[in-house]
Amino acid sequence: MSSPKIFVTRRMPEPGMTILADSGAAITVCKQNESEGLSREELVDGVRGCDVLVSLLTEPIDRDLMMVNESLLGIANMAVGFNNIDIEAANELGIPVSNTPGVLTDTTADLTWALMLAVARQIPQAHSYMAAGSYKLWGPNLFLGGDVGPGASGVRKVLGIVGYGRIGAAVAKRALGFDMNVLAFDPYAREAIDGSDRASWADLAELLERSDFVSLHPLLTDETHHLIGEAELRRMKSTAYLVNTARGPVVDEVALVRALREDWIAGAGLDVYEDEPVMAPGLAELPNAVLLPHIASASNDTRGKMSTMAATNALTHLRNEPAANPVNPEVYDSAAYRRRTEGG
Ligand code: DGY
Repeated sequence: MSSPKIFVTRRMPEPGMTILADSGAAITVCKQNESEGLSREELVDGVRGCDVLVSLLTEPIDRDLMMVNESLLGIANMAVGFNNIDIEAANELGIPVSNTPGVLTDTTADLTWALMLAVARQIPQAHSYMAAGSYKLWGPNLFLGGDVGPGASGVRKVLGIVGYGRIGAAVAKRALGFDMNVLAFDPYAREAIDGSDRASWADLAELLERSDFVSLHPLLTDETHHLIGEAELRRMKSTAYLVNTARGPVVDEVALVRALREDWIAGAGLDVYEDEPVMAPGLAELPNAVLLPHIASASNDTRGKMSTMAATNALTHLRNEPAANPVNPEVYDSAAYRRRTEGG
């Protein structure tokens, strides 16, 4: 009997790859090179020939792709976000999908804070100034920025958190150390916000109007696509900063470029982009934007844990057992799943 086959789209960090290799399954890694993506043909060929797919957020897993393999047992996505996968189609086709929640919460919250501080205090610009040898004399007007804590005025700043899941709550927790007042908006977490001593509920309009920093943490869905557009940016204070470590399309990036260029807001710290890795025209040239290449979860420890989780989920899919981190647990009760796994 031939070994079961796992198709890994792009090499994961260790120890995930070793866990897969040690399982005895036949592992195919399509791309070893960090900066190379898969063509549609490579993706289709890989999915057609495997029992389980291990994907990254860079691969669009749509209905047509899933339909090329009637016996695909599962998809293990090495990310907490799963907007790259058509979950409705996976449900209809009876395919379990898993993700890597929990392990990247703190690392992502840390980077959110790094962006808040970096954009408010102009840290990248100050670094470039030093590296260029431009620092000749201490100056009282050099790189003046906004405060994150109360600063000399003693007035607490307001942090507005949009999307109060694990990461949003971890960002709120860190705000305590900066003496900030935290507002939160998340229609699916009203109870958690009301029951929290870290944040107070505000609807989106109020949050945007009152916050000195707005940090975005919702899942990307049809509902949150362009949640922050021109009207929302215009509601923000002209001294406020926007930070996005969630998903790019939550923000209308063209409107954001205008907001930054025309000073509707003071600055933005971005880890994600609407059409990643492409940026909206003009964004890269703006002095009040700090731009990172989607690295919010990129610590050695966290990426290792994400790869462990994805590999473990993949092996669970292979054994046809319910994954520990299912995105669509309802699939296990569906006739489509039974047909796929039991032939009826
Ligand atoms: C995720 O997991 O969804 C992040 O965007 C990448 O770590």
